[in-house]
Amino acid sequence: MIGRLNHVAIAVPDLARAAEQYRTTLGAEVGAPQDEPDHGVRVVFIDLPNTKIELLHPLGDGSPIAAFLAKNPAGGIHHICYEVDDIIAARDRLLADGARVLGDGDPKIGAHGKPVLFLHPKDFNGCLIELEQA
Ligand code: CO
Repeated sequence: MIGRLNHVAIAVPDLARAAEQYRTTLGAEVGAPQDEPDHGVRVVFIDLPNTKIELLHPLGDGSPIAAFLAKNPAGGIHHICYEVDDIIAARDRLLADGARVLGDGDPKIGAHGKPVLFLHPKDFNGCLIELEQA
């Protein structure tokens, strides 16, 4: 059911510094920061030949990333995103298998303008999983 690894998301305490580190120290293609108010995040995407890295920083009050950074002040891997062909079919299969979908269970539009869902980390070995309809 799952396809390509779309991205790995890393929560960072200093977005400009992290973006610059990827650009200079790691020599990567780094995009411009973009605000995602629906998700409470400001993101910078880094294009790698085989996937992307998503640097995440809190945006606004009650951002889920603020809570994550409070527990992990140096930053850390926040989630991984797998592509699926049909997000509704994927959700229904996961729910039938007893997995928990976060929020109201309906896909939201993610940072790439495509529908996304998040799965409960306790159901997946402590890893927050995002599904994106490719
Ligand atoms: Co993501």
